[in-house]
Amino acid sequence: MLFPDDNGTPVSTDTRILLFTGKGGVGKTTCAAATALQAARDGKKTLVLSSDPAHSLADALDQDLGPEPTEIVDDLYAQEVDLYYSMKKYWGNMRELMLTVFRWQGVDQIAAEELAALPGMNEGSVLLWLEQAVRENDYDLIIVDSAPTGETLTLLTLPQVTQWWLAKAFPFQKFAFKSVGFGVRKTTGIPLDKGYEELEAIFEKLETIRDILAHRPTTSIRLVMNPEKMVIQEARRAYTYLQLYGYGVDSVVVNRVLPEEEIPDGSLFSNYLTSQRDYLQQIEQSFHPLPILQVPHLGEEVFGTERLARIAESMYEDRAPTDVLYDEATFEVREEGDAYIIDVRLPFADEEDVDVRHFGDQLVVQVANQRRNYILPNFLSYYALQGSSLRDGWLHVRFEEE
Ligand SMILES: Nc1ncnc2c1ncn2[C@@H]1O[C@H](COP(=O)(O)OP(=O)(O)OP(=O)(O)O)[C@@H](O)[C@H]1O
Ligand SMILES: [Mg+2]
Repeated sequence: MLFPDDNGTPVSTDTRILLFTGKGGVGKTTCAAATALQAARDGKKTLVLSSDPAHSLADALDQDLGPEPTEIVDDLYAQEVDLYYSMKKYWGNMRELMLTVFRWQGVDQIAAEELAALPGMNEGSVLLWLEQAVRENDYDLIIVDSAPTGETLTLLTLPQVTQWWLAKAFPFQKFAFKSVGFGVRKTTGIPLDKGYEELEAIFEKLETIRDILAHRPTTSIRLVMNPEKMVIQEARRAYTYLQLYGYGVDSVVVNRVLPEEEIPDGSLFSNYLTSQRDYLQQIEQSFHPLPILQVPHLGEEVFGTERLARIAESMYEDRAPTDVLYDEATFEVREEGDAYIIDVRLPFADEEDVDVRHFGDQLVVQVANQRRNYILPNFLSYYALQGSSLRDGWLHVRFEEE
């Protein structure tokens, strides 16, 4: 895709970006590290970037990592984003500005340092690192090992949110703000104008990186889960929201699947196997037609390159980690007057075989003897199903206010 360079001139980038997300503890870091290792072995220059403040990428890779990329093996670089390091690098003037304001208000040095980290800054920092790595066009592949689902959504929606925030917080023109800033600087020594310029530059970068993250097939999101009830539920919700924001999810990774053949009948884990079968089927129904990559439970903790390589092997089989595994929206919501239309991708279905129902926060679509469940966005709580039609491989479902 095209990407503006330092002077705003569009240059083309062919960096591929993969983002692993999912509920806490499902194996995002493990899968991200395994994927990175496999891609590097395939000769792709790869950067794996951890955005989780509770860093465990270093543990998974069994290597010390720093706030800048470190080379782990040939073609594999890893980095753990550190908020305070990033603030110094990217938000220097803004941080100065905030620190000065806090100190001026009598807050002591250490507390001011803590306060100078605003919500969203960690996510913002990750995006800025990502923007830099894409702009420098130095890697074939960048992998983001993100924090649990909620924070990933913050990460992905941050540019929209910050735009809104900028418009609310600084409703006056830049020119006016600059002269106000100059006045404030004279009386307080606070360089408001510089802070604002930096903020503007940051917002521009955030916009750019948002476009890249939403660009298919440059960026693909891989949803990691385990065959467990709560985990699947959260993944389905995340999937709906990712699609709503226009992000491309290209596969589902079901991690820590207990291998059937290893578990004798009547053992402690037989019941678990029964429910696992049921959950694997639910995953098929909820995420179809996304490819589902299964990773077995290794029976031991996963760290170091040897075990990560085993994870990658079962995850990708004969696929390459950088492949675009699926490239189509499967679910979309759009407004039509006072109504909302939900478009569901249903290739190969016949109208007479399709039955659509609405239960609570779910849309249930039955096609012949197959049932699929879609989680509806919260804003549809007060809307009722009015009807549906099938055209060109898409089911259009109409919701109107009750
Ligand atoms: N396939 C597997 N077999 C055995 N153990 C696994 C497997 N995948 C992950 N683990 C183990 O599960 C634990 C959690 O994995 P990991 O840290 O990758 O999860 P995470 O989703 O990144 O967690 P967090 O939400 O805290 O970032 C780790 O101890 C890891 O070694
Ligand atoms: Mg993790």
